[in-house]
Amino acid sequence: MKVSFIGYGSMAQSLSSRWVGKHELFVAGRDSSKAQSLADKLAQGTKAGSPQEAAEFGEVIVLATPHQAVFEAMEAAGGSEAFANKILLDINNPVDLSNGNYLTQTYDGVSLSEAIAAYSPKAKVVKAFNMCQAKVWQMEQPNFDGRRLVTLYCGDDTDAKRQVASLIEDVGSEPVDLGELKYARLLESAAAIVIKLLFSGRDPYTVLNLIQPEVKPIS
Ligand SMILES: NC(=O)c1ccc[n+]([C@@H]2O[C@H](COP(=O)([O-])OP(=O)(O)OC[C@H]3O[C@@H](n4cnc5c(N)ncnc54)[C@H](OP(=O)(O)O)[C@@H]3O)[C@@H](O)[C@H]2O)c1
Repeated sequence: MKVSFIGYGSMAQSLSSRWVGKHELFVAGRDSSKAQSLADKLAQGTKAGSPQEAAEFGEVIVLATPHQAVFEAMEAAGGSEAFANKILLDINNPVDLSNGNYLTQTYDGVSLSEAIAAYSPKAKVVKAFNMCQAKVWQMEQPNFDGRRLVTLYCGDDTDAKRQVASLIEDVGSEPVDLGELKYARLLESAAAIVIKLLFSGRDPYTVLNLIQPEVKPIS
């Protein structure tokens, strides 16, 4: 798969480190030298360039900016039409950490994912990877107590979800389909609980305990 990242921070670094060698990667952001430096670190043919080039390159485009910057980043990548027929992977948590209440921001009553889908109606938006801290996505085997981490995802396009499920398997996690994109509202709120726990001093591997129900051999 061709996977582009817009943003080269913690989440882009973690996820790209697990997909390099398995997929063709492209890194982009506001500062092309920082994008290039992540691409160089990943090596194995990883490309870097502008957000517009990232949108052109990717079959999957990971929106990996702070949540407040998502729409600005999509504008910089060419706007709504730049994502037509692309899979937009929304990993973002619209949780305002500045006011200390950890509640999710909504967009006229809907989730950030649904607002992204409204902004770019021809894109296939899938929400995933938002429920764990970036360090968890770096783990070679995200297993806890001998059981594999479950990654919940949701979206309205069946084929897009199938492809995101395979990206989840590529980080060693078990994909579990939560349903349509409207369920992103639940994922965003659930992640707010994890974030609240992290900021109260829990260790960075804090996850909601949505792992395999029984101990199975880990492949
Ligand atoms: N970190 C986690 O543990 C974690 C876990 C799950 C989900 N998430 C979600 O994942 C998203 C990314 O988080 P992160 O931790 O990777 O953030 P981060 O480390 O702060 O990285 C954010 C990246 O976005 C870039 N950026 C900022 N404004 C931008 C703009 N307007 N246009 C393009 N790029 C812009 C930043 O680079 P420049 O400033 O140089 O442009 C930086 O590369 C967030 O929405 C967060 O809620 C994070």
